[in-house]
Amino acid sequence: MSQPDWLILNGRFVTAILECSATDAPLWRYWGPRLADGATPGAALRETRPLPTFSLDFDQPLSIFPGLGVGWFGQSALLAHRAGEDWTFQATSCLVERDGNAATIILRDDVAAIDVEILLKLDPASDVLTLSTKLTNKGDQPLDVHWLAAGNVPLPSDAKAVRSYGGRHNGEFVAIDDPLSRSLWRRENRRGLTSHDAFPGAIVTCDDGTTYGAQFAWSGNHAQQIEWLDDGRWHWQMGEWLAPGEVALEPGEALETPEMLVTCAADANGVAQNFHAAIRSRTNWPGGTMKPRPVHLNTWEGFYFNHDEAALKDLATSAAEVGIERFVLDDGWFAGRNDDRTSLGDWWPDANKYPNGLKPLADHVTGLGMEFGLWVEPEMVNPDSELCRTYPDWAFCVQGRPAITARNQLVLDLTRPEVCDYLYQKIADLLATLPISYLKWDHNRDLTVAGQRPKYRAQVQEAYALMARITAAFPHVEIEACAGGGGRIDAGIARYTHRFWVSDNNDATSRIAIQRGFLQFMPPELMGAHIGAAPSHATGRVQSLNFRSMVALPGHLGVEFDVRKVEGAQREALKSWIATYKTMRDQLHGGKVWTGDAGDSLLWQAHGDEGEVILFLYRTLPTALRYSPAIRLPMLSEKRRYRVTPLGKEASDHDGAWLKAAGLPSPPLRGEQAQIFRIIAL
Ligand code: GLA
Repeated sequence: MSQPDWLILNGRFVTAILECSATDAPLWRYWGPRLADGATPGAALRETRPLPTFSLDFDQPLSIFPGLGVGWFGQSALLAHRAGEDWTFQATSCLVERDGNAATIILRDDVAAIDVEILLKLDPASDVLTLSTKLTNKGDQPLDVHWLAAGNVPLPSDAKAVRSYGGRHNGEFVAIDDPLSRSLWRRENRRGLTSHDAFPGAIVTCDDGTTYGAQFAWSGNHAQQIEWLDDGRWHWQMGEWLAPGEVALEPGEALETPEMLVTCAADANGVAQNFHAAIRSRTNWPGGTMKPRPVHLNTWEGFYFNHDEAALKDLATSAAEVGIERFVLDDGWFAGRNDDRTSLGDWWPDANKYPNGLKPLADHVTGLGMEFGLWVEPEMVNPDSELCRTYPDWAFCVQGRPAITARNQLVLDLTRPEVCDYLYQKIADLLATLPISYLKWDHNRDLTVAGQRPKYRAQVQEAYALMARITAAFPHVEIEACAGGGGRIDAGIARYTHRFWVSDNNDATSRIAIQRGFLQFMPPELMGAHIGAAPSHATGRVQSLNFRSMVALPGHLGVEFDVRKVEGAQREALKSWIATYKTMRDQLHGGKVWTGDAGDSLLWQAHGDEGEVILFLYRTLPTALRYSPAIRLPMLSEKRRYRVTPLGKEASDHDGAWLKAAGLPSPPLRGEQAQIFRIIAL
């Protein structure tokens, strides 16, 4: 039996093995829990499996770049052609360049005149394998590309179910559970931005609980699919969804995909922890490291468009008094913006609301020791705006068709350099003249068309470039990604931004579910979480300040109501929750996160490590039992004893083995109540 070249990438708890040859794309032999050092499949795959009846005389297993028309009957990594020719792909040569825990696989197809470079990186710190693909047109005619997968990975034959996430405005991260079957499983997003509708990621569970996760680092159209294979394994693929005609590569031109991040762990919490580590390493903090996440006051739900300078100054004073550290002036501050029908694009202060500009308010805020942040929505324009009257052709449209508005707005064509220059200049003017250290960057609609010729992907790249240009010129500025709440949450924009606004739904019970979905892929320090008003503006439900605070606390905390109106005991309680957050934030935002469901509407979330965790226990509905279930805490060590202190109550000591296997007795909680525990190893 022949010994092929193995490409083995090892993490702490994961291993990837590819079988390489000089004349073929590497075959996927293994992707999953860590194998012993040096373990290999032993022999070439084709030598270990006899050809079944009614099969091609050439065995074509899953490779890292499966191609169409050459004996592979599964999903192709590439759908492309040159005026109907050159639509098949089969590597005629393959070169693997290894660099530590990364490898570049260089495939050349001399027949189709296409080069493909696949970059694989396995980060041992996170156990996340990152894949991306670059295709170059080596022919002398344009190459139309309809699909180029960023990554192709196998799943083992006992993979049984996939959880993806859908949703809508005010209802993000709705878990969608599908069994894996012989039917193709596929999710697509064609809304032009990441979308509320189809988060670009999923997790897959296997019979033994092993869980695989993948997410696509991209803020635009995407598709992912999982298909059953003839050998019982599954093939998981992700890439950009490209519109017809969107990518036509001239000779010599290349198309580079965004990254696909994949990982594997013993359970879904392990997958989340790996993703958190990977996203943490992608975030570009001003100054290089994350400072403690400052408590926000966001003006939106307290004021909407009714900006009154004196009232906002009072608000700031009142906010500083309860411990707020960053004051974010939301929508309504710019020229003529009194409702959502006008003015997007006119990025200068409204002269009636702010006769002396924003400086007096901003100075007042910073004078109180808080940071000043500002809401913008750069990609958008209202037809009723000075910008649109001056440059009516700057918005995307298709000749002969009516422009479709959403929230009365159109989308600017960022691929026109003059548009980005205008936006950069307007934002730079604000940043250069005001003490602004934070931008809440919104995107309040889906795209319909993206130009006469589709430019969806170019639009996303230009938005990233505009953000990068702004933070390069103003490196102290942090950016929050928002799109009608959580419509733009993904690992792609995470390189340019520092916080996600997860939902406009501040109802604490709704938020518990939304935040759990978010935390499957993103770390808690990026999770914008505000204590909202009661009744909730989104749902009308009324929840106590304590419950709302305990739900918001593990994320990047904020307050989103008029704190001037909170008095007496409620005000003291608010101050105390903010102070509690400040004592906990380092631990909340630095460690691992586990979520769990104890049954009987008791959901829990723990932050920290084996030696010390902060546990949040939420009861969403009244109990249905006489005695509520105990909370089993899998992250604790059976070898240690722990002191458990419910916040504001007496501590008690317990064996880790007991807490892990039998569980912490649950305290008396009514519906929509919560309890926080500090659990510290003795
Ligand atoms: C979006 C955001 C809100 C707020 C409004 C302002 O809906 O999600 O938080 O900023 O826009 O118009």
